[in-house]
Amino acid sequence: MTEVSPLELAVVVPVFKERDNIVPLLERLDVVLAGVNHEIIFVDDDSPDSTSQKIREIALTNPRVRVLTRIHRRGLSSACLEGMMATAAPCIAVMDADLQHDERILPAMLAQLRQGDVDLVVGTRNAGDGSMGEFSAARVQLSHLGRRLSRLISRCELSDPMSGFFMLTRPFLEQAVRQTSGIGFKILLDLVATSPRPVRLAEIPYTFGARLHGESKLDIMVGLEYLQLLLDKLIGEWIPPRFVIYVLVGSLGAVVCLVLLLLLVRVMHLDLFVAQVVATWITMTANFFLNNVLTYRDRKLRGRALWMGLFTFYLACSVGAFSNLRVAAAARQVGFSWYGAGVLGLTVGAIWNYLVTSIWIWRRSHAAAAERYSQ
Ligand code: GDD
Ligand code: MN
Repeated sequence: MTEVSPLELAVVVPVFKERDNIVPLLERLDVVLAGVNHEIIFVDDDSPDSTSQKIREIALTNPRVRVLTRIHRRGLSSACLEGMMATAAPCIAVMDADLQHDERILPAMLAQLRQGDVDLVVGTRNAGDGSMGEFSAARVQLSHLGRRLSRLISRCELSDPMSGFFMLTRPFLEQAVRQTSGIGFKILLDLVATSPRPVRLAEIPYTFGARLHGESKLDIMVGLEYLQLLLDKLIGEWIPPRFVIYVLVGSLGAVVCLVLLLLLVRVMHLDLFVAQVVATWITMTANFFLNNVLTYRDRKLRGRALWMGLFTFYLACSVGAFSNLRVAAAARQVGFSWYGAGVLGLTVGAIWNYLVTSIWIWRRSHAAAAERYSQ
């Protein structure tokens, strides 16, 4: 085999609908990484704008460029993890494709890692002369809120834990990767919160740029996924975060049901039994749709499957409610206090409902996934 100089750096770039940003990004990386033996790994979730195809065309003549196209998958963090695991390079950078991350600090990041006394170098907008650039006031506030919440799980002092721009060593990645959650957008936080030993860290300030083409994929669901990441890191060893969201949705439903009952009885003067039936039915229906868009958003039902699911949900809830009452009655008989019996009944009912919904109604199906990600 002919001798080639070893690979020094991989730049992992998660992409979704970024076709027009690929060439400008590669041009800039080419300039700043001129003296470094590097490769660039794009991880694309089968973007409908043919981002992968565009990258493959370039890769035909540029051996530094590779693309990993994931089918039926979505998610920034998991894309980064899979990209990082697809390289042999000893140093690995993660950056966005939209040119908001200033590629000019990459050489300084690499130099820091090569000194050997840090595991991770983070591009920060909140220290030194770094800044959020022209980020809207609302996004800045959101970022700061995320930063405060991150302290619940982060094991080191990061000035910009929300950053998606960093470089790490392979040994650091290897010792954390198997315990990462891979949920949502915050891969950096996921890694530092997972690391079994204190992270040796350096930060390099930069100014967050404006997006070149396309639009941000950050939406309300990304916020929810962030909460799910926090929950997973805090209590995930004992309770699945999805179950927590399910219980939150259910509790909200219980409150709504009581308010409805009050309205129906006090304002509309319905008979208590009729009011109970109506309030329960509305609440179950609302809970079903909320679970579809929140708890099981990654397995969202559509079309016929949605209506079949709703019907099954009604059935499952009725059985759940029945077992709740039976368990509570039985517990009362063997000497439980009324609230102890109530809590036991509710717990059994909730676990039953959760199991039915996760195993049966929102089970993983390739057909549903294909439909979901085809837009
Ligand atoms: N493969 C894949 N799958 N890539 C994704 C997905 C996905 O589901 N969602 C977003 N991306 C890619 C985008 O194409 C882009 O290259 C990068 O991830 C960042 O997404 P943006 O939609 O541009 O997010 P943002 O600018 O609002 O926020 C980003 O920058 C912040 C500051 O560093 C994210 O990286 C945040 O995590 C980060 O805090
Ligand atoms: Mn962006």
